[in-house]
Amino acid sequence: MRISVIGTGYVGLVTGVCLAEIGHIVTCIDIDALKINLLRSGKSPIYEPGLEELIVKNMAEGRLHFTNQYNEGLIRAEVIYIAVGTPSNEDGTADLSALEDAAIAIADQISNDVVIVTKSTVPIGTGDRLKAIIEYNKSNDSVSFEMVSNPEFLREGSAINDTFYGDRIIIGSDSVKAAEMIEEINKPFQIPIYKTSIRSAEMIKYASNAFLATKISFINEISNLCEKLDADITEVAQGMGMDKRIGAHFLNAGIGYGGSCFPKDTNALMQIAGNANHDFELLRSVIEVNKKQQNILTEKAKRRFGSLEGLKIAVLGLAFKPNTDDMREAASLTVVTDLIKSGAVVSAYDPIAIDNARKLLPEEVEFLSNIEDAIQDADCVFILTEWPEIVNFDLELYVSKMGKPVIFDGRNCLDMTKIQELKIEYHSVGRSS
Ligand code: UGA
Repeated sequence: MRISVIGTGYVGLVTGVCLAEIGHIVTCIDIDALKINLLRSGKSPIYEPGLEELIVKNMAEGRLHFTNQYNEGLIRAEVIYIAVGTPSNEDGTADLSALEDAAIAIADQISNDVVIVTKSTVPIGTGDRLKAIIEYNKSNDSVSFEMVSNPEFLREGSAINDTFYGDRIIIGSDSVKAAEMIEEINKPFQIPIYKTSIRSAEMIKYASNAFLATKISFINEISNLCEKLDADITEVAQGMGMDKRIGAHFLNAGIGYGGSCFPKDTNALMQIAGNANHDFELLRSVIEVNKKQQNILTEKAKRRFGSLEGLKIAVLGLAFKPNTDDMREAASLTVVTDLIKSGAVVSAYDPIAIDNARKLLPEEVEFLSNIEDAIQDADCVFILTEWPEIVNFDLELYVSKMGKPVIFDGRNCLDMTKIQELKIEYHSVGRSS
């Protein structure tokens, strides 16, 4: 199948590369010429394990192409995926301008019958709106097109794995033929396919992310209660998760969810609900709980030390989660800014997000290239991301570098037995220490 993918951001690039890997001829289009040049030289503009190798391989095998020209990229495409960004407007609604620009470019260029697939996360009803835009702007009256909504459920850091071993593929379309075509394209993935209407598919994406965010805020609230009642959240989550109806995943308590998806999509769904005159009280609480949760380590440190003025604090992990250099909505943005405002001296370490973090964190922060240097003579440590090198760091080095280490672990990722053996003062989230 000849496929074009518009947008080489996270979703578009992973989608395009994986579709090439299963045998399709894919052209990825992006208006950013610098990005296209980088990709043509076999380099990935984003950090994602395994992605660059697949780019190089599929380019070499002639199935993957990159262009910044719509006419070159869309010519003879049988299927066009739209995977441009839908960032938040100031009021939390999704900004659909890139999507509409892509729709107009498609309307201008298509010269044969085509199926148009939205991968981007879009408000319910957007598929219908794009259809109207393309119909209105179509330059060639003799071509026809069908719309499909095919939301993605990839996690950053494991996107390639999620594409090949995902739980489901959702194909929303009002056209049986178009849905069958997208089903055919996806067959080599051997993942269960569920076909719905376009609007249901659009809703499945928001509802799934909002539900996962709800699970996280729920377990975080339970962890706060565990602290007050001397129960242990690790045991509680494990015991709850053994019930198949609850499920063991997304019950890790910590400093709240971040990233480019949950915060944006929960806010957008609040707006969507509001526009439909529905007061989504539960989701409002999920968002509020998450904001509060980002402050818990700083509050614990303030209770422990009285004031943070002049304290040297080593912050380990800045990305919103491991295996990514993405700093969008990372808890570290709130935490580190608060620490600096409170007069602390912050030395920060992250295996790969430092370049991105430097642009976003206060200029007073000192960035170090290894954990040892970051914790040297620190009064306390804040763990914000559970990178393997942070989880597996030799705990004895905390003692030798800091004297009497005090650790605030926002991800509950350190081994409690060893911590107790070494008599390290340890504060985590909802665990009895
Ligand atoms: C999330 C969803 O998991 C994907 O299914 C979805 O496709 C994607 O958003 C998207 O809409 O594009 P992602 O944001 O990459 O993926 O990352 P997650 O692994 O879901 O983690 C999100 C945040 O939740 C992180 O800050 C993580 O630390 C936090 N989290 C996750 C917890 O605090 N506790 C948990 O138990 C799980």
